[in-house]
Amino acid sequence: MANKRIAGIIAVLLIGSGCAAVWHPSIAPLAARPAFPTEQIARGAELAAVGDCAVCHTVSQGRPYAGGRGVPTPFGTVYATNITPDPDTGIGQWSEAAFQRAMRDGIDRAGRHLYPVLPYPHFTRASDDDIAALYAFLMTRAPVHQTTRANDLPFPLDNRVLLAGWNLLYLNTGPWHPDPAHDADWNRGAYLIEAIGH
Ligand code: HEC
Repeated sequence: MANKRIAGIIAVLLIGSGCAAVWHPSIAPLAARPAFPTEQIARGAELAAVGDCAVCHTVSQGRPYAGGRGVPTPFGTVYATNITPDPDTGIGQWSEAAFQRAMRDGIDRAGRHLYPVLPYPHFTRASDDDIAALYAFLMTRAPVHQTTRANDLPFPLDNRVLLAGWNLLYLNTGPWHPDPAHDADWNRGAYLIEAIGH
């Protein structure tokens, strides 16, 4: 009897944590694009270069950051999205909180799971300031109206809900911890490689 009750409690806990991991609220759209200090934008440009954002998010001969490049995975192709500030097809309606959630937890503004082809398991270690700088940089690029094509993934991998399970197993969120055995320069380099350079 006691065993059954314990099994029941465990089942309820698992289902509860599963639902919490699957469901994420949508974050309200931005009404207007904010302005950013020039130094923050410049810092974001450097970080975007270290993080190779343009490499995945631009097709050859395409407009920078407008997306469309197919990133092959062992299961199929995931297309990098438009991360220019176009309000309809890019991230123009994303608040900084929405951007930070995508970078840290792999959840888009609407609350959908993103494939870990976007290296959020690494970006999750990035500092608030660095994520804010990347956001400032992207939100001040020229908006490009370009819809990203649908991913080529077989059933059931085309179902983003499965990523909640992947995240529970593999995503380890939390800040980057400096190694006290090394100096600040070493740690800054290690952080850039691990958290931004992925
Ligand atoms: C290895 C390729 C790769 C790199 C490098 C990369 N991304 Fe992505 N990114 C993707 C893919 C693929 C998606 C779409 C994932 C999906 O559809 O689930 C994506 C999605 C996103 C999204 C969500 C956008 C949306 O419309 O849902 C944001 C924001 C983003 N990336 C920002 C960045 C930033 C900032 C950098 C650099 C610091 C970066 N990415 C580097 C591949 C990459």
